[in-house]
Amino acid sequence: MTFNILISDPLSEDGIYPLRQAEGMNIVIETGWSPEDLANRISEFDALLVRSQTQVTAEIIAKATNLKIIGRAGVGVDNIDLTAATEHGIIVVNAPDGNTNSAAEHTMAMLMSLARKIPQAFHALKNNEWDRKKYVGVELKNKTLGVIGLGRIGAEVAARAQGQRMNVIAYDPFLTAEKALKMGIDFGSVEDVLRKADFITVHTPLMKETKHLINAEAFRLMKDGVQIINCARGGIIDEEALYDAIVSKKVDGAALDVFEQEPAVNHKLLTLAEVIATPHLGASTIEAQESVAIDVSQDVVNFLNGGVVRNP
Ligand code: MLT
Repeated sequence: MTFNILISDPLSEDGIYPLRQAEGMNIVIETGWSPEDLANRISEFDALLVRSQTQVTAEIIAKATNLKIIGRAGVGVDNIDLTAATEHGIIVVNAPDGNTNSAAEHTMAMLMSLARKIPQAFHALKNNEWDRKKYVGVELKNKTLGVIGLGRIGAEVAARAQGQRMNVIAYDPFLTAEKALKMGIDFGSVEDVLRKADFITVHTPLMKETKHLINAEAFRLMKDGVQIINCARGGIIDEEALYDAIVSKKVDGAALDVFEQEPAVNHKLLTLAEVIATPHLGASTIEAQESVAIDVSQDVVNFLNGGVVRNP
């Protein structure tokens, strides 16, 4: 029996070796299809592997008459319509672990770049502008990092920030006093974090409860001169409110890896000198990409061969 597997976003070639090695897997890699192309061709496939770009909507799922499994090479499944997949009996798997270090390291890179205005200074120097006064930063040591969402990635960021001699205050619905004590961090409500932090980084999934969690009211509660990092999901921060908070000088700077609409080209926030940004690169390392691709490929092979999956 042969299974047709579609890989519709760029995945690590080394990471898909479980699929390449398995018998009876006909692998098609097509990363340039439009949603219409995908809708027209999806019925040919038994499995679909995606990263973030492909939007697996209810319309596409409705046409996926042979699809048995969707694998998302990353944390979360927010570009997949889970309800529609469930209704059509399609299993959805992801790779919750493989990105953790890379996402935490990218967050730290953004935090340090923000504090020391490295992208702005680099950009100026590239334009032959040697200005040492304009790019005076702040130290991280003894500053407070507020972490909203202390899951795998948030906890790794907290530990790394402690290595920078920062104080950490975190909010997470599952955080207990005992766990916080063990980690050497303070914990409080979202409001406590907003009020006390000098830098705030969000590490929650995007869901109904976290959409625009950082909104105009949240900015109002923050310290003047606070700096904001989002390497989690676009939409956790209300971008209009962030824009206003930067223009009004409430917020000194923001580092964004993710946006409400991606790709975020010609974005209003990118016109502000206080904003530094990367194009959703948190998980973009050789190691993370290989790891997440292995995880989902292995799950797809196991499932199609009648076995169990690790991360449904
Ligand atoms: C993730 O959810 O793990 C990442 O955002 C995936 C990606 O980088 O495409």
